[in-house]
Amino acid sequence: MHIFGQILLASAALSSLVDGSPLEKRKVFTINQIIKPAKVPRNGPAAYAAALAKHGVPIPANLAAAAVNDGTVAANPDENDVQYLSPVNIGGQTVDLDFDTGSSDLWVFSNQLSATSQRGHKIYNPSKSSTFKRLTGYSWQISYGDGSSASGDVGTDTVSVGTTKVTAQAVELAKRVSASFVNQASDGLLGLGFGSINTVRPVQQKTFFENASPTLSSPLFTADLRPQAPGAYDFGFVDKARYSGTIHYTPVNTARGFWEFTSPGYSVGNGAFKTTPIDAIADTGTTLLLTTDAIVADYYRGVRGAKLDDTQGGYTYPCNAKLPNFTFGVGSYRAVIKGSLVNFAPVDATGTTCFGGIQSAGDIGLSIFGDIMFKSQFVVFDGGNTRLGFANKP
Ligand SMILES: *[C@@H]1O[C@H](CO)[C@@H](O)[C@H](O)[C@H]1NC(C)=O
Repeated sequence: MHIFGQILLASAALSSLVDGSPLEKRKVFTINQIIKPAKVPRNGPAAYAAALAKHGVPIPANLAAAAVNDGTVAANPDENDVQYLSPVNIGGQTVDLDFDTGSSDLWVFSNQLSATSQRGHKIYNPSKSSTFKRLTGYSWQISYGDGSSASGDVGTDTVSVGTTKVTAQAVELAKRVSASFVNQASDGLLGLGFGSINTVRPVQQKTFFENASPTLSSPLFTADLRPQAPGAYDFGFVDKARYSGTIHYTPVNTARGFWEFTSPGYSVGNGAFKTTPIDAIADTGTTLLLTTDAIVADYYRGVRGAKLDDTQGGYTYPCNAKLPNFTFGVGSYRAVIKGSLVNFAPVDATGTTCFGGIQSAGDIGLSIFGDIMFKSQFVVFDGGNTRLGFANKP
């Protein structure tokens, strides 16, 4: 079962998106300007190796090897930070994919889609790749929590994310995508969940990270997503410049294929910490933070003019209201999501009423900590130790 990968807007402004609100128009408007030139800082091991070389110290073999495959890639926000897109090279062709830690399929807009579906997207054409190999008889089909879906057939190719390269990575070619994908800026998804929820049949395929892991200096990746600005994913190393203080780790339960953890509780603003276990997943592919009705109601209780707005499908408030910080526990660490970053987007053309970034998870049965959380916290996805690390941003 794959539930939420991409609850892009939750039930959120979905209704207003469909009827062509300003939000929708702005999204279309941004299609051709999402990718700014990716600034690729030298990765940790490479920098270390370069420093050793400069001082005439022999470079240890493992470091030399690691320095080759660790990498950084930009994560560029779409309008309103609805999703973050990263350039990915597949067999020599570059597409802009949404890295999604809440799903485990790497799929891409392909030349097998109808011309109308291809419009506005970069397209991967396997016949133009000398390294593509078809996996005959294989197919994939995925449905996400917002009702969107995609399907097609499968092959393998060389996939590079920054300087991190995997040969023979399963690449799932879209033949059909639902309308919401046609209208979004991404050319597909790069799943970073666990391979147990990959949808390729008859044989499930490993994710890009799972394939890259043995070649990385550390089998981990990190997410540094920023509000209205390019951030980055790093593979194989933790960049100290991306966080302040120390990283606090918590075990991950992989049973459902997600980066799932239990937070011991939360607080709102300067209120007391409330001890209540929150079963949550860290999901870069979801825009908002979705949690229990009780916590959501508690969060907006103190916000002037906030209300559960049925026509918008969630909590709204006057855009000039001040939102409190939302703090969740990671063991004894208190991870702060800044109130100013909880604000998601106006629901009207005049910018009077705003839609909140913290909303109900409904009957999903799990909290989904999406991009609203990642914009305030630096997160380490530590595959080697099956744990998540959280730290404040500088
Ligand atoms: C919200 O959190 C930030 C970052 O931890 C902190 O600097 C600020 O004082 C907090 N604001 C309030 C109103 O507590």
